[in-house]
Amino acid sequence: MNKDTITMTNNRTNEQYDFNILDATRGPSVVDISSFYKETGMFTYDVGYTSTASCKSNITFIDGEKGELRYRGMLIEELAENHSYLETCYLLLNGHLPTTEQLLDFDLELRHRSFIDESLHHLIDAFPDAAHPMSILASGVSALASFYYEHLNMKDEQECQDMARRIIAKIPTLAAFAYRKSLGIPFIYPNIDLSFTENFLYMMRAYPGGKMKRTANGEEKIKPIEIKALDTIFTLHADHEQNASTTTVRNVASTGAHPYVAISAGISALWGRAHGGANESVMAQMEMIGDVKNVDAFIERAKDPNDEFRLMGFGHRVYKNFDPRAKALKKLQDQLKDELNLDSKLMDIAHRIEEIALNDEYFIKRNLYPNIDFYSGVILTALGIKRPMFTAIFVIGRTVGWITQLMEFKNDSSSKIARPRQLYLGS
Ligand code: ACO
Repeated sequence: MNKDTITMTNNRTNEQYDFNILDATRGPSVVDISSFYKETGMFTYDVGYTSTASCKSNITFIDGEKGELRYRGMLIEELAENHSYLETCYLLLNGHLPTTEQLLDFDLELRHRSFIDESLHHLIDAFPDAAHPMSILASGVSALASFYYEHLNMKDEQECQDMARRIIAKIPTLAAFAYRKSLGIPFIYPNIDLSFTENFLYMMRAYPGGKMKRTANGEEKIKPIEIKALDTIFTLHADHEQNASTTTVRNVASTGAHPYVAISAGISALWGRAHGGANESVMAQMEMIGDVKNVDAFIERAKDPNDEFRLMGFGHRVYKNFDPRAKALKKLQDQLKDELNLDSKLMDIAHRIEEIALNDEYFIKRNLYPNIDFYSGVILTALGIKRPMFTAIFVIGRTVGWITQLMEFKNDSSSKIARPRQLYLGS
């Protein structure tokens, strides 16, 4: 680490202060202002943390100018095209891709850990009919803390790994149960003969007794292309540096709360439409637009400063160029168009929105490009998944990122309870 400093002058007193500059292995350096209050008697002010690095991290890197995303140094495009979601999970948790043997062990372990306690069925059952899956999921994950309350020794590596693998394995089951509850249909238990992603599709689609839908051509099997599409979606969502939900997870964990309660808080933070909830809103918006001929009018609304309407799936705090995850999903959408019989009306609306927005001065000036949530809905719809489940799919993909970030936080001796200050303007 170099010893360069940045000097700040207080024009009121002419006092000067030096702060250390810390260099990153990739991306911008940071100014260490941890002693700022002690030295100057003032706080710093940064609403929404637009210029603040809240931690040191080795997990995920984003270059917002170049539109680049890496997990543990590996480019997202390489992972999405050539590696499975479970390999990506292993990479995030362990810092390297698994060998064939390690992957097999990891896969089998997750299959066997995918069951949830029977009493959780009652909890889910107690929700009102048509409850939103995100609400059930946040509660279900919070309840898991009561079943695994012993997992609080974060200094024990094995205990941490067990805690992480358990939540990654159980999230799809809780999500599928939440989905079926929201549809008023009976729960389907995990099938350990199936891979992580196929099992999730199975738990959503199967009929009681584990039977699949019957058609005139026989049993309707889950297609490999469907498994690959959803697996890629999970990979693209697996982590994203210090976003709002990850920061929530770290903040809750900073108080010493149980890791699963912290993950539950992350699920709640993700639900908002400025964050992961945007994927559900994008689809609602496209359905509201209804036809290509109505797109222009909605674009005008999005540009009107007096109208609260925002184009969902557009814009990002960090990406000032194309979101690489969106690029990968658009490619996937084009590849799957015929094979999965994607809804051409929705795709036409999406293409028209994209075409106008990418050429319109309002969007260009503000660096507003489609984000990951803009493209996922059309693919999820083609997989037969209902709109309220879209953000829960995001949760399944992101859980590994949250838990990896939480473990990093716990293992960092410089971590502190999250406790910002304020600029008081009251009486
Ligand atoms: N439609 C229209 N205008 C927009 C949009 C949009 N989607 N997003 C931002 N703008 C405008 C703002 O009105 C503002 O304009 P102004 O400078 O004239 O006031 C300018 O662009 C900057 O916007 P901010 O809200 O300051 O940008 P911020 O970085 O705080 O917000 C966010 C980023 C929340 C993603 C925002 O772009 C947004 O609300 N997008 C729509 C929701 C969405 O798609 N969220 C998913 C993000 S990806 C994810 O979380 C997985």
